[in-house]
Amino acid sequence: MMKGVSFLVIVAILALASSFVSAFDPSPLQDFCVAINDIKSGVFVNGKFCKDPAMVSANDFFFSGLNIPGNTGNKVGSNVTLVNVDKLAGLNTLGISLARLDFAPYGLNPPHTHPRGTELLVVIEAAKILG
Ligand SMILES: *[C@@H]1O[C@H](CO)[C@@H](O)[C@H](O)[C@H]1NC(C)=O
Repeated sequence: MMKGVSFLVIVAILALASSFVSAFDPSPLQDFCVAINDIKSGVFVNGKFCKDPAMVSANDFFFSGLNIPGNTGNKVGSNVTLVNVDKLAGLNTLGISLARLDFAPYGLNPPHTHPRGTELLVVIEAAKILG
């Protein structure tokens, strides 16, 4: 009887403790922080240095070229066109990147991980391989 009560007390304490636990990335300190390579004219918050917000333009948030298929004529039969902060400065500190993946028939994407990241894939076009 005593054992059962202490077990219940332990379970209750653990249940209460778990409701106070939360895990999340801290909210960004600013709405945007366009990456800049010249550290003398930038402000550092986190990620890369931020461009002076007064100098930010729409082009800092624009990327073109995802409509162009990558060349899949390589060993793995796939091609990744990556758009990250190095290609699109406006993504700095937002925790977002995107990519276009092209696969040749039987092409593959080598196993890899995205620590602390979530990946969403949308198949735009696919062909059924008969055989
Ligand atoms: C991916 O495609 C681009 C554009 O065709 C090409 O420049 C690049 O070398 C390709 N990458 C690989 C790994 O085949």
